[in-house]
Amino acid sequence: MSRKRIGIMISGRGSNMAALIVACREGRLDAEVALVLSDVADAEGLERAENLDVPARAIVPKKYRTKLDGDDARAYAEAFREAGVEFICLAGFMRIVKAPLLEAFPGRILNIHPSLLPSFPGLEAQRQAWEHGVKFSGCTVHFVDASLDGGPIIAQRIVPVLDDDTAETLAERILTEEHELYAEAVGKVLSGRYRVMGRRVVRT
Ligand code: GRF
Repeated sequence: MSRKRIGIMISGRGSNMAALIVACREGRLDAEVALVLSDVADAEGLERAENLDVPARAIVPKKYRTKLDGDDARAYAEAFREAGVEFICLAGFMRIVKAPLLEAFPGRILNIHPSLLPSFPGLEAQRQAWEHGVKFSGCTVHFVDASLDGGPIIAQRIVPVLDDDTAETLAERILTEEHELYAEAVGKVLSGRYRVMGRRVVRT
């Protein structure tokens, strides 16, 4: 079977993107990152992708600031299709993905979020968790639907919140786990050995 082609969407530094590229290179993922797209023209991750010899470019949306829809979403779908992409990983992409990109890749768009969803969706999840005083937080990889961080959960990892943590130290420890969890979860989805039953993603 040929290696699956993955597309990645970023807005910022791209450390999860880099972790996925490295996982492919090291053979931990039977896949290849075919294209990285950013909605931010000078995103740090674009340079990082280029340094890793992965095609990367910005497509800056013309319309909204907080979502990607209409013609803007269509431009992403077309670019990924041209690159032969089958699965898309959002990695710090800061807009809510809507039609027609969602419809172009049904059940084939994944996201990583730095909390144990459904707790603390949205921005600054690590700070939200720290301020709330939870004793455990973590990270979640989930399928993307039209909601905010709300699709069916593929995998999660727990990170304890320590008494002397700041929001920043907690975020750092969560990020380390994110890098491993994302590759693991993508592997699970690429294997095809799962079924989505309502909100539950179960192994088959
Ligand atoms: C990560 O914490 C990810 O969970 C969230 O945005 C952050 C992106 O970081 N969605 P990076 O760009 O992958 O370094």
